[in-house]
Amino acid sequence: MCGIVGYVGEQSAVDVVVAGLRRLEYRGYDSAGVAILDGTTLQVERKAGKLANLDEVLANRSLPGTLGIGHTRWATHGPPNDANAHPHVDCAGAVAVVHNGTIENFEELVAGLGERGHARRSDTDTEAVAHLVEECYDGDLAAAVRTVCKQLEGSFVLVVAHRDEPGLIVAARRNLPLVIGLGDGENFVGSDVTAFIAHTRTARAVEQDQVVEVRRTGVQVTDLDGVVVEGETYHVDWDTDAAEKGGYEFFMLKEIQEQPDAVRDTLGGRLTPEGLLHLDELAMSDQDIRGIDQVVIIACGSSYHSGLVGKYAIERWCRLPVHVEMASEFRYRDPVVGRSTLVIAISQSGETADTLEALRHAREQRAWVLAVTNTIGSTISRESDAALYTRAGPEVAVASTKAVMAQLAAMYVVGLYLAQVRGTRDADEVRAHMHDLQEIPDLITELIGRMEPVRELARSLKDAQRVLFLGRHVGYPMALEGALKLKELAYISAEGFPAGEIKHGPIALIEQGTPVVILAPRHALQAKLINNIQEVRARGARTIVVATDGDDSVLPYADDVIWIPDTKSLLTPLLTIVPMQVLSAEVAAARGLDVDQPRNLAKSVTVE
Ligand code: F6R
Repeated sequence: MCGIVGYVGEQSAVDVVVAGLRRLEYRGYDSAGVAILDGTTLQVERKAGKLANLDEVLANRSLPGTLGIGHTRWATHGPPNDANAHPHVDCAGAVAVVHNGTIENFEELVAGLGERGHARRSDTDTEAVAHLVEECYDGDLAAAVRTVCKQLEGSFVLVVAHRDEPGLIVAARRNLPLVIGLGDGENFVGSDVTAFIAHTRTARAVEQDQVVEVRRTGVQVTDLDGVVVEGETYHVDWDTDAAEKGGYEFFMLKEIQEQPDAVRDTLGGRLTPEGLLHLDELAMSDQDIRGIDQVVIIACGSSYHSGLVGKYAIERWCRLPVHVEMASEFRYRDPVVGRSTLVIAISQSGETADTLEALRHAREQRAWVLAVTNTIGSTISRESDAALYTRAGPEVAVASTKAVMAQLAAMYVVGLYLAQVRGTRDADEVRAHMHDLQEIPDLITELIGRMEPVRELARSLKDAQRVLFLGRHVGYPMALEGALKLKELAYISAEGFPAGEIKHGPIALIEQGTPVVILAPRHALQAKLINNIQEVRARGARTIVVATDGDDSVLPYADDVIWIPDTKSLLTPLLTIVPMQVLSAEVAAARGLDVDQPRNLAKSVTVE
């Protein structure tokens, strides 16, 4: 959480840094701030609330200078007020620091600083770093930062400027993401590449416990002992326009529209001339794939729901047991994984702390870990044995849509590939399933084009107190996803259940008019679902049924119907998810809420 930018170059630093923060705002929006160095004048501006509040402050200020650092905060230590907004400065106002992470020994550090006469002006752990740098600085900022990092416990990305070093910013990282952007006569650091892709596409990831000196003319990376370390650069091919709203009121609405491409690009280039799958990214020999005796999928939130769909596909096609685990619980219960376990870690951001810790645990048990992530160079991709990139492009709205869609596509591909190699599905069947998958992007486009009734429905649900979502088989994970989206965006109490489970307790929640969304595309279990629809309707529910085009069997029991195109039942999540996304976004909009930045959340969840 928290977004960080640093810039040294020839442009107006405040403009570059604030534009970078705008792209990183999805990481946290409790406050924002900048520190700009002009010669030896260091000026800091910061403001509680969204970046727009800082914009207002900056509109009345002149901040000349071509070196700057900036921060957008997701509060951990101290409430989200002006005093706790970053950057934080030392006693003399000579050092400015922005920080992402949690310094676990900060109380001890603060006590020592107090004894040594430093005055504390915020509740944050970060301020301690500014004072420590002040104490350690003797004309070499990078050396001071290295010394301070050795005293810190926990996780951090730090970016530091000092008024006595006009051409330098120093950044450091432990456990959290930091990327360098290498430009022409200008260089950058950022929490991710979106901070600088408007200026350069050449990036380098900073590794654990490294310190970066960034100057206009170049960048030097060292370890904590000051030994220079080389590293590889990579090219970022994300489209800058993809990180802009492009005429949509919200990023989420734009990202929903981009889903056909997310699927197309994720499926693309995976077929041999014979129409079979190749998945070199898995980096496992055919023999090792045949030796897998279980699959464990670890993920959080919506990515966990993609994992659940993956379970249905892999079990069906590969006849392998698949366990899907919430990453935050995984390592604490001594899970049974070993050499012949394939662990799949799904994460859009590639930085989710729970998923990262879970995969580290799996690797310690010698399992083979495949990351399925949207972010090239992310920590999860680098710490896994192999990485399969979903190709959804940058996702800005906090609620994940196109990245989840791409994860679903990736899980089908992984399932089919394992089945192909293990021989549980023959070549013709693999080809047939791939053919069905390749038809999905056009079906999504068609479906998105007929969402007006869903928008109308959303307006009618705007004052609902509670909404239930039911599904069976692959409809169940999508019921969970529909409920999660409605909760996080519209702040309406929403629960997803397997439809057969409702009679074991949740049916007691139903009152006259309680909206119940039932995912009932054409499926072998549909007759049972129709029973469930009748059960809730008999108790007064308003039934909103998601059904396949032309399937009139649901009509007698549905108060509202959302029609979706026909596809194979195992693939229906790729379609049923779309109205769930639109519904939640539109209910939130009808309630006057910020669809892209729901309260209390951040997109990249880098705390456990
Ligand atoms: C919900 C949502 C979250 C994320 C979760 C995992 O709309 O976006 O539930 O899916 O925080 O994030 P990643 O996939 O980045 O690990």
